[in-house]
Amino acid sequence: MKSRSEYWENAYRAVPESALLYDGPYIKSLMFEEDELEGIREEAYGIIEKSLEVVGARSSTEPYDEAALLHDLNQLDRIYMVRDWDVFARLESRLIQSMKKRGILEGISGMEFPMNIRVMHGKIPPDSVNFALASHHLHSDLWADEPEDSLINLLYLGGDVSSTYCEFYDFPQGEVASLEAYRGPYSGYDGSQANFTLVPLPPAVGQFAAFDIIVPHKTTRLGGAARISIDFRLRRDDPYCSDSEAWNREHIPLSRYWLINPDEVSCFAEKCRYELGRLKQEGDEAGYEARRAWIQEHTPDAEKILRECV
Ligand SMILES: [Fe+2]
Repeated sequence: MKSRSEYWENAYRAVPESALLYDGPYIKSLMFEEDELEGIREEAYGIIEKSLEVVGARSSTEPYDEAALLHDLNQLDRIYMVRDWDVFARLESRLIQSMKKRGILEGISGMEFPMNIRVMHGKIPPDSVNFALASHHLHSDLWADEPEDSLINLLYLGGDVSSTYCEFYDFPQGEVASLEAYRGPYSGYDGSQANFTLVPLPPAVGQFAAFDIIVPHKTTRLGGAARISIDFRLRRDDPYCSDSEAWNREHIPLSRYWLINPDEVSCFAEKCRYELGRLKQEGDEAGYEARRAWIQEHTPDAEKILRECV
């Protein structure tokens, strides 16, 4: 496995310098192209529309109608996404193709599935204002027990991105050890917060930002309308290298991370076939059994899918 600094030094080399909106040691940003965004939006908006339908809040029958979708979302406080695995698998495949073509999956072994399709409203939901883990407090995801070898990717898809966005903070190299060692809220951070500097990265639709798990960040909400984004984590280490007990962790299940299928995928069954096929091929019996069990537990047509797998 590549170390944290090795990954970040190499991962964005193939991206022309002029295409990088921000080029920090542990934070990078660039714009996705319009045709990529169109395909990604189609899948993500499809999920949001289905989710609006489930709660009877969808006003338009027109597919991928962004204006109608944002209108509907702005009537709600929050929305729970329906778990349509086929659409999530296609969305993931599109994201993988976009990252692969830029070379930024070099040194990456695992990806979170499903990714978060996030609708952020301009106001903090009343029940999370004081929640210590709420994302509007400055934090790094490491203090929420996410894997140490992970990094986070965020893509703004649409809506009022200039009112609700993520702020990242850069830091000198000397601060890395403290950031890697610390667990807990930033109010108790024992390194020096005075060393953190806000990254000058104005949010924009189509902007992709990647940042390491140690990077301090927070969500800023200026009270505007809803914003739609996608975020997901990648892992440098083998996502199956943990023992079976760790796989059953309730807080952050390690089963959340899958291998990366470099080929395009058109449905969830195809994703499962690749995953189980590779685990079998590598002789990873514990990983294979754990993944089969996950599929069985979380997929309505699991039996059919598993029959077609090795
Ligand atoms: Fe976070």
